[in-house]
Amino acid sequence: MRSRSAVITGAAQGNGAAIAKGFAAAGIKVALADLKMDALERVRDEIEAAGGTAFVAKLDVADPDAAKQFAIDVKEARGPVSILVNNAGIDRGGATTLLSVPELFFLSVV
Ligand SMILES: NC(=O)c1ccc[n+]([C@@H]2O[C@H](COP(=O)([O-])OP(=O)(O)OC[C@H]3O[C@@H](n4cnc5c(N)ncnc54)[C@H](O)[C@@H]3O)[C@@H](O)[C@H]2O)c1
Repeated sequence: MRSRSAVITGAAQGNGAAIAKGFAAAGIKVALADLKMDALERVRDEIEAAGGTAFVAKLDVADPDAAKQFAIDVKEARGPVSILVNNAGIDRGGATTLLSVPELFFLSVV
């Protein structure tokens, strides 16, 4: 795992931030994306204070062009990516069934 490179979306808080810190602590080079740049930079600072490195970028994963550019930027900065944690998303609360989720919701979180 040590030479691997990972992309984690929705990494500014919650599960994504925890995964990012855990991967970085395991020696994996992480590239992090989120809508919330201030919080994302705090995650990067924490990773770097612990001796790791993190590439960070503001990204709306529902924007295909921005996602494509992010992939290009990550590859330039970090080389090939071997792990993708497609974590970004929103929880609208409450129990739900797959068939009751409107198509537009899927499109908004990709
Ligand atoms: N926590 C749970 O119990 C639980 C349960 C089932 C599924 N999930 C899913 O797991 C993922 C993480 O959950 P969490 O509790 O850590 O969520 P969270 O709300 O704490 O964090 C989600 C992160 O994703 C980011 N995000 C949202 N939309 C985005 C977009 N379009 N582009 C880029 N970033 C975006 C947010 O800014 C936030 O930083 C989510 O997709 C959530 O729906 C969580």
